[in-house]
Amino acid sequence: MSFRTLESLGDLRGKTVLVRCDLNVPLKDGTITDDGRIRASVPTLTALTTSGARVIVISHLGRPDGAPDAKYSLAPVATRLGELLGTSVVFASDTVGQSADDAVAGLGDGDVVLLENLRFNPGETSKDDAERREFAGRLGRYADAFVSDGFGVVHRKQASVYEVAELLPSAAGLLIQAELEVLERLTRTPEQPYTVVLGGSKVSDKLAVIGALLPKVNTLLVGGGMVFTFLAALGHTVGSSLLETDQLDAVRGYLAQAEELGVEIVLPTDIVVASKFGADADFVTTAADSIEETAFGASGLGLDIGPETAARFAEVIAASKTVFWNGPMGVFELEPFAAGTKAVASALADINGTALGVVGGGDSAAAVRAFGFADDRFGHISTGGGASLEFLEGKHLPGLEVLGWQ
Ligand code: 3PG
Repeated sequence: MSFRTLESLGDLRGKTVLVRCDLNVPLKDGTITDDGRIRASVPTLTALTTSGARVIVISHLGRPDGAPDAKYSLAPVATRLGELLGTSVVFASDTVGQSADDAVAGLGDGDVVLLENLRFNPGETSKDDAERREFAGRLGRYADAFVSDGFGVVHRKQASVYEVAELLPSAAGLLIQAELEVLERLTRTPEQPYTVVLGGSKVSDKLAVIGALLPKVNTLLVGGGMVFTFLAALGHTVGSSLLETDQLDAVRGYLAQAEELGVEIVLPTDIVVASKFGADADFVTTAADSIEETAFGASGLGLDIGPETAARFAEVIAASKTVFWNGPMGVFELEPFAAGTKAVASALADINGTALGVVGGGDSAAAVRAFGFADDRFGHISTGGGASLEFLEGKHLPGLEVLGWQ
């Protein structure tokens, strides 16, 4: 079975098309703080509306508990989507109820409606196949065809990602195609030197990808909260910094494997250590192996890589032909601990045009935008953090397989 793209759906004029997007954007007091995922959904939606399709957009936002919860409403997203599409987007205040029925019934050719958060319905994320199928059936009755374009959720076996695609003639949208094109370059033919930069808080989330990447990369740069498990695995004390003691053996295993494979794992040589978690904390920069020798002793918290490490990471990135980055280097949301992440972002932007630099979604994408970098400063900013990592791990992704991906 070959991978199905939009063309496979034929002429869509007058047809009602259900489009699964990932419009899970960060909100602060009801205001969208990063609209990257909404912007990324525009090409597919525009292609469909200009072809005369009647478009029903569906998405989740956050992780509500299978019931309506105002703080996870997609209402603000409908407004922003309308601005970006240059058309009014009708918002239905439920997903498969009266409001959705009315909105869908009112659709004309080229019109767009957005249904309320899919995850307000327990069937969306149910572990029970029959419940997911039942909910998919209720969504599917609205449409003649299904377009899957929420790359950020293709690793989820959920009703609107998987079961709906089984029910209706279905195809991948332009965003999923674009994401796959870049990720394939990383997995099949990465130009060398190939560097992966990993950060973020949990080493356990990244272990599988480290295992999958070691045979493919030349250098692995490690920062963020996960680095303290690496430092501890090497025998250093890390104060009160994040530490996953149950991962120490696995990390030692990867350090040994990297040595055998000739892959350089570059760990920080200096760390910004704080007295507590907060923008008003006292902090010092110290050698990575002497965190507990600072004035904060065993209560010292490592919250960013130090300047020497940031410069070293930037140097490695500058000499690379392919770079994939997932996870911030420190607590970038707090100004005193943002410099390491900023240095990586800027090094990645600097190689654009001469090398492929990919920002792997989630927090890293939020970070580059928070620092004010325009999206086109990078080779690619993925809309899926978890999905892109699982793709690189070589995992089976249900939302792609159901579209014929092999
Ligand atoms: C994401 O933010 O990575 C996607 O929107 C998926 O969200 P989830 O992890 O809640 O399924």
